[in-house]
Amino acid sequence: MGVVASAPAKVILFGEHFVVYGEPAIVLAIDKRAYAKVELRNDKRVHVRSTNLGISGYFEDNLFRLETGNEQAKYKLEPIKKVVDKISEISGKTAGLDVEIRSTVPVAAGLGSSAAVAAATAMAVAKILGVELSKEEIFRITYEAERIVHGTPSGVDPAIATFGGTILFQMDTGVKPLEAKMDIPLVIGDTRVSRSTRNLVAQVREKRKRFPSIVDPILRSGRQIVLRAIEAIRQGDIRTLGELANINHALLCAIGVSSESLEWLITNARKAGALGAKLTGAGGGGCMIALAEPDRLEAIAEAIQRAGGTPYVARKTDHGVRIES
Ligand code: PMV
Repeated sequence: MGVVASAPAKVILFGEHFVVYGEPAIVLAIDKRAYAKVELRNDKRVHVRSTNLGISGYFEDNLFRLETGNEQAKYKLEPIKKVVDKISEISGKTAGLDVEIRSTVPVAAGLGSSAAVAAATAMAVAKILGVELSKEEIFRITYEAERIVHGTPSGVDPAIATFGGTILFQMDTGVKPLEAKMDIPLVIGDTRVSRSTRNLVAQVREKRKRFPSIVDPILRSGRQIVLRAIEAIRQGDIRTLGELANINHALLCAIGVSSESLEWLITNARKAGALGAKLTGAGGGGCMIALAEPDRLEAIAEAIQRAGGTPYVARKTDHGVRIES
């Protein structure tokens, strides 16, 4: 008898990268989820399989044995082991486990796939070991796993994967749910160009070091965008949100994290009637979002498709990490 848990993907509406330096960000959980199925084993192995990535292997006595995939597999499966170790440490219980990951979230695309996987795994492992964890604890464990993947993450991805909904996230104050009575109508466009969040965050850090008096005002503008966007979300003012998305994107271009593939999808989405469009997540490839009146969403999705991207008309979800069965 196994346990299945799931956690949502996300889009950052405003504030990516700036959030790493303590500024606020607005994040939305979306209706794509990662699933972790966990079963007890009779031995001490922690066996992990990711069906999407086509990789598997097991950890035993702190050694990793590859079963399917290449050398990269260990690096990709390690965060899962970290989650298991952390829960064993908290509970004082160790057990051999089979962990199987399935996901509908595109990988390395800026939609928070690794955090969703880690949060789902944490909840499933806790449940099977009979440990009661608060959401705050799942957030912390997911954050630790993210540090392996991303180096110095802000915590925005673990927060939304854990809590779901629409949140305001800031490193020093944590998670505040945002009242979003409106549906925020958006299309996600995936460039299918994969990139590394770790590298992009490092590039921005370098840029800030070289040009502090130029980059710091950009961070402050990012904060003002978020504050204005909170108001617009409360008022259901999609037009203003669109304008703010365009300004936010220009700031992200200024710090060097857009790319040709992103610009192409963003230009096409705007031409097809988006009120605003921007990259989402770390940039450098991955995904963009377009905000629009609901009756324009299909046309924008088609424009993204014609431009060579993969569109998803995303719906928000209030469900953070949860047990499925
Ligand atoms: O991993 P992504 O693409 O979802 O980006 C995470 C957001 C960043 O602000 C770029 C990094 C962070 O840790 O907040």
